[in-house]
Parts: sequence; C-alpha cells; structure tokens
Amino acid sequence: MSQAPRRTVVVLAAGEGKRMKSATPKVLHPLLGRTLVGHVLTASASAGAERTIVVVGHKSDQVEAHLAEVAPGVTPVLQAQQNGTGHAVRIALEAAPDASGTVVVLNGDVPLLRAETVASLIEAHESGARGATVLAAEVADPTGLGRIVRDAAGNLERIVEERDASAEVRAVREINAGIYAFDVASLREALSKLSTDNDQGEEYLTDVFGIMASVGRPVGVFVAPDADETLGCNDRAELARLRALLRDRVNEAWMRAGVSILDPATTWIDVTVQLEPDVEIDQNSQLLGATTVAAGAIVGPDTTLIDSTVGAGAVVLRTHSIGAEIGPEATVGPFSFLRPGTRLGRKAKVGGFVETKNAELGEGAKVPHLSYVGDATIGPKANIGAGTIFANYDGVNKSHTTVGEAAFVGSDTVLIAPVEIEPGAYVAAGSAIQKGVPAGSLGVTRAPQRNVEGWVARKRAGTVSAAAAERALAEKDAGGEVSTAE
Ligand code: UD1
Ligand code: CA
Repeated sequence: MSQAPRRTVVVLAAGEGKRMKSATPKVLHPLLGRTLVGHVLTASASAGAERTIVVVGHKSDQVEAHLAEVAPGVTPVLQAQQNGTGHAVRIALEAAPDASGTVVVLNGDVPLLRAETVASLIEAHESGARGATVLAAEVADPTGLGRIVRDAAGNLERIVEERDASAEVRAVREINAGIYAFDVASLREALSKLSTDNDQGEEYLTDVFGIMASVGRPVGVFVAPDADETLGCNDRAELARLRALLRDRVNEAWMRAGVSILDPATTWIDVTVQLEPDVEIDQNSQLLGATTVAAGAIVGPDTTLIDSTVGAGAVVLRTHSIGAEIGPEATVGPFSFLRPGTRLGRKAKVGGFVETKNAELGEGAKVPHLSYVGDATIGPKANIGAGTIFANYDGVNKSHTTVGEAAFVGSDTVLIAPVEIEPGAYVAAGSAIQKGVPAGSLGVTRAPQRNVEGWVARKRAGTVSAAAAERALAEKDAGGEVSTAE
C-alpha cells in the first residue's frame, strides 16, 4: 500500500485589489455569506491538505483577523511587498520547508470554484505524475487574463500574461484560472529561476510552466467543466456578476432539494443558510447568515431573515428579522421587525407594525397590531391589544416585564417596566401600568370621563362640528331618529 500523498494548499491573498476602490481588502468582500477568500478556503478544504497557507500582505491585520475567525487552522504568511504571484508562492513555501507531494495554489479571488473541481484537478495532476497542472477554461472574453499557449500537438508550452502577449496569443480564448497543482520539488526549483523580465516587473507564478516545460518536466492543463467557476473578481461590477451566478447556483440546489422559490431572480440565500423540504420562499426575500427554515414554512414576499430560525409551518410575511427564533406555526407580519432575543412559541402571532426585542412569546400568545415589545416574557395565550408599548427603558436602565398566561392587555396601554401582569389578569385599554396586576384582577389607570355639555356651541361656534351638533340635538329634541338626509 502506498501512503496517501502529502498535500499543501497555498491561497494567494496579499494583493490590494486596486480596482475594487475599497478600504476593505479585495478578498474580504462578502459574497452570499462568505468572503471571497472564505469561499476559496471552503472549496480547497476537501483537498486533503495537511497544511493550508494563506499569503497575506495588503492590510494583513484585517485579513489575518478574518482568517482567525473563519479558518483558525490556516497559517497566514506575510508577503510584505507584493512582487508577484511567483514571489508570493516562494514566500509561502519558505514557511513550509517540510512540504512534500502536491502543492495546490489558488488565487484568493475565485469564489465560485467548486470543491469537486479542486479534487479533479488534483486527481488529474497526481495521476499524470506532472511537475505542474493548471486549471484552464475556454471563455468568450479573455480580456486581462493569462492565456494558455499550446504547441502543435496540443501540449501546454507556457502561460502568457495578456500585457506580455503578442496579438496572436491574445486571440487565444483558453485562459489561466489562477488555480494550480504542483509537485513541490519541481515547483521550488522552477521558482528559484523566475525572472522579473515582464511588463509589470514582477515574479510571475505562471512562468513556472514554461520553465518546467523547457527542461522536459511534464506540465499539463485541466479544463474546468464549467467556465463560470473560474471567474475572478477584480471590480465591483464583476463582484455583482459573481453574486448573481452564485445566487442562481444556490437557488437551483435548494429547488432540487424540495424548496419552492417563487422568483429565483429576487431571492438571495447565503450559502450558510439551511432549509428543509416544502419551505416556500416568495418574491424579494433574503435569507442570510445562520438562518434556518423548517419544513412547510412560508417566508416572504419582501422578507429579510438574518441569523433567524423559522419553525415548521410558520408564516413570515414582509418582515425584517435579526437574531429571532420563530416557533412552529407562528405567524409574523406584515411589516414586523423582530430583533435579537425574540423567541416566538408555537402558534404565536406578531402582527403589523410590531417591533420586538429580547421578548419571549408563549404558545399561542398574540401581539397583533402596532406595538413595541422590549425585554418581556409573555405567557401562553396572552393577548396584547393594539398599540401597547412595553416601556423597558427609563433612560438609564432596561427592565423586564412579565405578562402571565392568558392575560389580556387592552389597547393603547403602557406597561412600565419592571412590572408583572399575572396569569388571567386584565388591563383596561388606555392604562399606564406600573404596579403589578394580580391574577384575575383588572388593572385600570384611566381618569374618569367628564362631558362638558354645550362646549362646542360656546367654544367652536360657526364650525362644521357645531353645525352637525346643532342638527343632531334638534333631531333628538324632535324625538325622531337621527337622520343623515340633507
Ligand atoms: C493572475 C495570473 C493570470 C490569471 C489570473 C486569473 C499571474 C502572473 N497571472 O493574474 O494568468 O489569468 O490570475 O485570475 O499569476 N497576489 C499575491 N501577491 C502578489 C500578487 C498577487 O498574493 O504579489 C494574489 C492576489 O491577492 C490575488 C492573486 O494573487 O488573490 C492573483 O493576483 P492578481 O494580481 O489578481 O493576478 P492577475 O493579474 O489577475
Ligand atoms: Ca486577478
């Protein structure tokens, strides 16, 4: 039995990405739930490498902090000056003197690359016992990319950068994707021979192919099954194009897994989201971050879920939700705003123009209209009337409100925290409650009503109201019914 070959992955992420025109390094730009470099690391994670090195340089502190968060196992290596892709790989290998077998090198800005393609490239490379294999693609517009130059027999001769290419070579539409597999010993040797004799005065990794070929070391091309996978990202227009392609790929995979997506063109699902079969996603919805949606739930239209959990059979309509747990068969929206710490029990209801934060609703509890619920526990089957405000903040401290099981809070109430409405208690509409209401009691703070007779005639004479009142009073005096006829 031969031993599994040792493998090292090197991701090149030291460049600034000038054309992004951004304070954020290019590889840290986000694309449906991961950064560009995060996607590349995910695709290369299954390469079977013992070590993954990421070459950092421009704003290396930011890039390293991100790597520590998303891929703590990788080794960042600093390339203080970006003298080219060949220089970057040389520095990476200096940090891995014991590396043997295969080195897989990936540009940090090819986020659509699939793990399967990386595996196929490695397989083609190792089974061919080559010095180097490049991932290539046939594209409609090769502008700006390195071209694959083959000899008459179709064998790879060299890779030529566009700016160093003749008109004849520029006409080639087979391009270098910036993803390679190398035999490490051959690579080290070829890297030591790189020159900077090119238009940019940089050490080009791509020159390694011509160097190996010239000494008879076999080099090869692996053509990507899907050219879109090889697309790089150099500016924001390309980033938007990649985002749309990835959106289509993600949506297609979910539809094939049993999710209904009514309008895939306006549905954006991060690669980190989890969905179950028979979920339905309606138009203009975004499912982001660590969001999960269970079977049979309906999300949208016009809904954004960030790091939120939706239970089976729930309905979430025209809602913005961040960090919320929505229970099974709960209903939310339209126009609801769920904030972190919101937890809705089974069949709970949050209706129109309701904002919740750090609020737990028990099974079947309802906040149907126009309310703010902050720092609250609401028991099962409790009903919170329209326009109720949980006043949780006194300007300095936040306090908690508890509403017990099946309590009934009348409309336009202020519950001034800390306060407790015990199970089965009622609160009269229009109250400002700051003392607890015991179980089974009615809490009421309304001032008694007083009607000042004849006030409109005295104080608002000549108005339409005065005229209407006069007619109504005359009809009452006549003993007849109030008539609306002119
Ligand atoms: C490179 C290839 C080109 C290929 C293209 C695919 C070379 C010389 N050319 O060109 O053939 O078609 O990718 O997208 O390799 N980087 C470093 N250190 C450096 C320079 C670059 O880490 O000193 C990193 C960048 O951050 C980036 C990657 O290497 O992630 C590629 O660099 P970039 O400048 O974009 O190379 P291209 O000119 O696009
Ligand atoms: Ca590039």
